[in-house]
Amino acid sequence: MAKNVVIVGVQWGDEGKGKVVDILSEHTDIVVRYQGGNNAGHTVIIDHGKFILHLIPSGILHGNKICVIGNGTVLDPLVLIEEIDTLKKSGYLRDDSHLLISNEAHLIMPYHKKLDLLKERVKGNLKIGTTGRGIGPAYEDKVARNGLRCKDLLNEEVLRQKIKTNLIEKNHILKNIYHDHGFEVHEIYYKYTEYAERLKSYITDTSTFLNNAIDEGKNILFEGAQGTLLDIDHGTYPYVTSSNAVAGEAATGSGIGPTKIDTVVGIAKAYLTRVGEGPFPTEGMGEEGDRLREQGGEFGATTGRPRRCGWFDSVAARYAVKVNGIEGLVLTKLDVLDELDKIPICTAYEYNGGRLEIFPSDNFILGDCEPIYEFMDGWKTDTKGITTFDELPQNAKAYIGRIEELVGVNVIMISVGASRKAAIMIKNPFIDM
Ligand code: IMP
Repeated sequence: MAKNVVIVGVQWGDEGKGKVVDILSEHTDIVVRYQGGNNAGHTVIIDHGKFILHLIPSGILHGNKICVIGNGTVLDPLVLIEEIDTLKKSGYLRDDSHLLISNEAHLIMPYHKKLDLLKERVKGNLKIGTTGRGIGPAYEDKVARNGLRCKDLLNEEVLRQKIKTNLIEKNHILKNIYHDHGFEVHEIYYKYTEYAERLKSYITDTSTFLNNAIDEGKNILFEGAQGTLLDIDHGTYPYVTSSNAVAGEAATGSGIGPTKIDTVVGIAKAYLTRVGEGPFPTEGMGEEGDRLREQGGEFGATTGRPRRCGWFDSVAARYAVKVNGIEGLVLTKLDVLDELDKIPICTAYEYNGGRLEIFPSDNFILGDCEPIYEFMDGWKTDTKGITTFDELPQNAKAYIGRIEELVGVNVIMISVGASRKAAIMIKNPFIDM
């Protein structure tokens, strides 16, 4: 029986991880977010309505769970405060001890957001298509050892000094390279001392907390953001985010050892989407794509941008299984394919006149790959509301079975609609794996 389960996105993010985390939260004591920032948007639909959470794990919607924001994340304090306020207004997070923020998580500063937007602007055609939330520049400062961390919010003198030192360099860049007016120390300092007042009770040593919880035998769910193909090392660089989105980061991004992770579950949409720039071999569904975008609500939860749509890519999914060590697959949004006559699945790529079965994360090679499709018969039946695998139409079972064969991992859960209840659980990772 797995106690510590990692959830990761198999594709380019937006796989529906928020809903899966929400469902699995019932079986865990603690939910941990370990990388990324408010570039993520996890949509959860529950009886009380729709919630889009950017930073706090969706486990917070289950009253009695402890939610942890780990050291691997980058936090925009204002967004976090707004999220806390929204949750409280809706009757959640009644007990403040249910939210813990790592004192080592890095802070997104106003100059990070500005630099994110300005850097993209000057890149022109080579832009990444970032969410503009300051994620990349905040991670740059982390690696450059210039970053401010949550613990710095707890010491006003250190906070002021670090803002002052950083602004010497940032203002130079902003003024001289981007012809911007830059920032004043006191305006940032004033705002961040206010944020500190609101957040200080949540900031703590979350690594020790988690390791103690593991020793006590608690169940922990580690919630990844973005997806494997957006990982800074293993994704389609440079069209990636600035953190490691793969399962290994659950350990480094939360301060636990990798030997404490029992299993990794990958979340994949029954088709494929991507936001932002970069190669996407199975993109281009023609009119089907427009219909599917509407039906699947394929618009960014964070930026509202229309998502690029394509067919299920088993080459990419196989790769994700390997780099994450995925042992079970959750297939989401199967119902969005309900009306199709034929459903293409990409089984391999054609590249340079040859057949490629291994995903080339190299951006130039991937850009020249043509998908090789196999066409599955559609089921043309409404699958919404189905709660057991047996009730699924035969062709839907065949589609799932073919994905399992191509990807090499069993499907353990299927999502057939937006609500919490619209899911078929085949194996619960906390109980059956
Ligand atoms: P950044 O993370 O804002 O720097 O954006 C880098 C790339 O990752 C862009 O293509 C974004 O659209 C993409 N991205 C970042 N976060 C998400 C997410 O949560 N879902 C899907 N795409 C994302």
